[in-house]
Amino acid sequence: MAEDLNIPPKNTAPEEKYRLLLPQIKSLVEDESDLIANMANVSSVLKSVFQHLWVGFYIVKNNELVLGPYQGPVACTRISYGKGVCGKAWEKQASIVVPDVNSFPGHIACSADSKSEIVIPGIYKKKVIFVLDIDSNQIDFFIETDRIYLEKIVKLLTDNSDC
Ligand code: SME
Repeated sequence: MAEDLNIPPKNTAPEEKYRLLLPQIKSLVEDESDLIANMANVSSVLKSVFQHLWVGFYIVKNNELVLGPYQGPVACTRISYGKGVCGKAWEKQASIVVPDVNSFPGHIACSADSKSEIVIPGIYKKKVIFVLDIDSNQIDFFIETDRIYLEKIVKLLTDNSDC
């Protein structure tokens, strides 16, 4: 249950935060098979623990990405294949870390406060079915540790939810 989460203190190192969160997210998503419900809880956990500007999901529907569960400011609702960081991660079927959004050709600015970004695709049966998108208001915020652990979190979602 979400209210039983053990939330690490703000000054905990990122790797330690993920290490503490991973088993808790696993038990959260193992108890629920609905993908949207699990995306909603994962957005909440990541936003509250890391205080990112924006954490959320875009879901592949009718060959475009449509806004799904998220935490943060209002965001654009639809992204085409290959467009923006999210559409590129979908096209490449690979995570993308953007240290400075202003240097990423075609970046879609949903918020002027977003300075760096990471996008992780959720892959099921060799197809991207959603992306996890996280925006930071700090430049060069995301490190390799984020990519590694966020990929594990996304895999927990695709392995444990009805896709
Ligand atoms: N910046 C993203 C768009 C989504 S928002 O950041 C929430 C992109 O370029 O795909």
